[in-house]
Amino acid sequence: MSVSTVDGQAVADYFGLAGHSAAWVTELDALPVPSPAAIADPATLADQFTRLGGDRADLAELQALRPRLEVPAVRWLLDRCAWQLIGDMGSLVTNPQSREWPPWPLLASADDPLNRYFYVFVFLAGLPAVREFHQSRGISDEISWASLADLGQQMSVYRRIYGTGGLHTQVWLTIPFRGLLYRLGRLQYNLSRIDFDQATIDRLGLPFRPGDQIVGVHIPEQGRLDPASCDASLRLATEFFDAHFPEWGHRFATCHSWLLDPRLADYLPAESNIVQFQRRFAIVEEGTDQDAAVYEFVFRRINPTLDELPQNSALERAVVAHLRSGGHWRTPSGWLELPVSRRN
Ligand SMILES: CC(C)(COP(=O)(O)OP(=O)(O)OC[C@H]1O[C@@H](n2cnc3c(N)ncnc32)[C@H](O)[C@@H]1OP(=O)(O)O)[C@@H](O)C(=O)NCCC(=O)NCCS
Repeated sequence: MSVSTVDGQAVADYFGLAGHSAAWVTELDALPVPSPAAIADPATLADQFTRLGGDRADLAELQALRPRLEVPAVRWLLDRCAWQLIGDMGSLVTNPQSREWPPWPLLASADDPLNRYFYVFVFLAGLPAVREFHQSRGISDEISWASLADLGQQMSVYRRIYGTGGLHTQVWLTIPFRGLLYRLGRLQYNLSRIDFDQATIDRLGLPFRPGDQIVGVHIPEQGRLDPASCDASLRLATEFFDAHFPEWGHRFATCHSWLLDPRLADYLPAESNIVQFQRRFAIVEEGTDQDAAVYEFVFRRINPTLDELPQNSALERAVVAHLRSGGHWRTPSGWLELPVSRRN
C-alpha cells in the first residue's frame, strides 16, 4: 500500500483507533491532499530538538523512530496533522472563526513508542513555519525559542508522570506552535478572547465584552513564582504585544487555573507566592471541581489515592488536608488589567 491509496479507515486500523479517535481520522479524509511534511535530517533535528528543550533520551527515541515515518499510514497522518498546524498559523489573529483547539486525540496503545512520540514529529514538521511566522512579526530568536521550548518542558512532565518518553499535551502545544503563545520572562501569554457570557460580565460590571481580544496568562513550572518576576513579566507582556501584535487588544489578561482557587489562601501563608499571585486577579467564575488538575500539576500523578501522595511541602499538605475534609479543588477564572504601555 502506498500513501496515495491509504484512507482514514486504514490509518485508524494501523494505529488501533476506535470510537471518537477513529471518527476523527476518517474525517481527515476530507482534507485536501497536503504536501509531504518535512522532518529535518538527523543532525538538524538534533540541533532543533535541543533548542526546543528536549532531552537526550527522547532525542535517541525520535531518531530511532524516523524510518517508521515512511510507513504509508503514518506518513498520511503526519502530513495531515502538520497541514492543520501550519495552515492555522497565527489563526486567532487572521481568522476569528478558527478553532482554537484541534481535536488531536492520544493515539492508541502507549506500548508502541511511535504512538507516544507521534505528535512530537508533527511539531518538528511545523517548526520552520512557526519560526518564519515569528520572524515575520519581528520576534527575537530568544523569545521565539523560549516559547517553543514548552515542547521539551511538556515532554519532561510526561516522563515524570508515566516513567517513559512521550507527549500527552499535544492539543495545548498547538498554541505555541501556531504562533499564539509566548514565554515572556516568568509567565506565558496567549492571544485569546473573552469567553465569559454577557450576563456574568453585566453582573460584575466588567470592562469587556464576550469575544473581545485579550491575552491569557499561563504559569509554566520552572522555578518559583516570585512576585518581582511576575511584575517584570507582566510589563514585558504589554511591551511585547504593543511591538509585535499592535492590532491585538491586550489591555486585559485572563487566567484560568487551579492557582486561583481562593481556598488555597486558607492553607498557605499570606506571603506564599501562590497567594500573592492569586491576589492579582479578580475572580469571575469559580469553575467546577477539578481535583484531577491539582493531582497533575502539584503531584504529576493521574488518579492517585490520597495515601500515596507525598506530604513534604505546605502545598502538598494543603491539597491532601482539603480533600480529606471532603472538599474539592477548582480552577477559577480571573482577570487583571495589564500594566499601561510606556508609549501611551
Ligand atoms: C506555580 C508554582 C511555581 C508555585 O511555586 P512557589 O513559588 O514555590 O509557590 P509558593 O511560594 O506559594 O509555595 C508555598 C509552598 O508550597 C510548595 N509548593 C509550591 N508549588 C508546589 C508544587 N507544584 N509541588 C509541591 N509543592 C509545591 C512550596 O515548596 C512551598 O512549600 P514550603 O512552604 O513547605 O516550602 C508551582 O506550584 C509550580 O511549578 N506549579 C506547576 C505549574 C502549574 O501548576 N501551572 C499552572 C497550570 S494551570
